[in-house]
Amino acid sequence: MTRRVIQFSTGNVGEHALRMLIERPDVELVGLHASSPAKIGRDAGELAGLDVTTGVLATDDLDALVALNADCVVYTSQAETRAQEAMAEIAAFLRAGTNVVGTSFVWLVAPDQADEWLREPLAQACADGGSTLYINGVDPGFSGDTLVYAALSVSGRATAITVQEVFDYGSYDDAEFTGVSFGFGEDPGHTPILFLPGVLSSMWGAQVRDLADLLGVELDEVRERHETWVADEPIDCTMMRVEPGKVAAIRFAVEGIRDGAPVITMEHVNRLTEAAAPDWPFPPEGRPGVHRVKVDGDPGVEINAHVGTDVADHNQGGVIATAARAVNMINAACEAPSGIVAARDVAPSDHVPGLMW
Ligand SMILES: NC(=O)c1ccc[n+]([C@@H]2O[C@H](COP(=O)([O-])OP(=O)(O)OC[C@H]3O[C@@H](n4cnc5c(N)ncnc54)[C@H](OP(=O)(O)O)[C@@H]3O)[C@@H](O)[C@H]2O)c1
Repeated sequence: MTRRVIQFSTGNVGEHALRMLIERPDVELVGLHASSPAKIGRDAGELAGLDVTTGVLATDDLDALVALNADCVVYTSQAETRAQEAMAEIAAFLRAGTNVVGTSFVWLVAPDQADEWLREPLAQACADGGSTLYINGVDPGFSGDTLVYAALSVSGRATAITVQEVFDYGSYDDAEFTGVSFGFGEDPGHTPILFLPGVLSSMWGAQVRDLADLLGVELDEVRERHETWVADEPIDCTMMRVEPGKVAAIRFAVEGIRDGAPVITMEHVNRLTEAAAPDWPFPPEGRPGVHRVKVDGDPGVEINAHVGTDVADHNQGGVIATAARAVNMINAACEAPSGIVAARDVAPSDHVPGLMW
């Protein structure tokens, strides 16, 4: 069945989602939202960077898009920094009976752990419209859910689980959001948004708590740790120039503690050059990035996932993979019962149909 789909935004992730929607034979692109005045009125093919004319023009008219009565919206607009507006946009579709898959509001990757102010209105909108909402990405998302479930499924007993993103962000073009919120290029004494108390726990801790819940493990506490590494010489990378003495790598984790020891850890090591932070973990085989799950147990299991091994570099691959986590769930979201669903509520194979044509 061909699903009628709207793409909402054409930013870093949205541009790739849009390209998938244009190219996939099992979806029909029927609408496109853009907020930037420079994009409004332009053809979806052009905004996706494709040499095709789709006849679908970008608009900022939310009511007109809702009135299209599409099967699904792929929502990839910036949400964390404009929560009320993004909630209103998503809820308008859900209330009208249009399903939403997306990458925005990373807290909803583990919806049962999300704060009530976010979860309740969106759950109500799903109930009002009989619709479904699914939010995911690569990290948080895939690395802390599907990848972990795959590793745990071949372990007889698990004593500790560590999920890592170890990524060189040197080629990542996102100074405004990642650069600012991670504190790259800043003085080490500066506290970026990510390191404000509770932020890591809400963004990555939700998957720690969700996994503990799934495993039936009672955690004593969920705690955060973070550290920075400063450049000793100037570093030029895609998102910025880092002067000596400024932050060029960060390492942070959220740990679920039982009996005084971490049993579920979600950790990031992000550098702006491979020369940064030589004592911190690196991806295997000299690669620039990895999403890794390590299960201590009987047997221990380790899975190293590398996105962007083909046409894209690893950062581009991560963004495309994030778009794919949403786009690949369109059909399943259309068939799922009403409500907010998570990766643990669907079969891993639900992300697969329609992918090879
Ligand atoms: N879990 C993961 O692995 C993962 C990875 C990457 C991103 N994400 C999430 O996915 C979402 C999209 O990320 P992204 O990197 O694609 O974001 P982005 O490029 O920074 O922004 C996406 C779009 O948001 C739209 N927008 C609307 N109002 C805006 C405003 N007031 N200020 C800024 N942008 C506004 C713009 O849309 P127009 O194009 O319409 O003008 C922009 O292109 C975010 O919520 C992010 O947290 C998750």
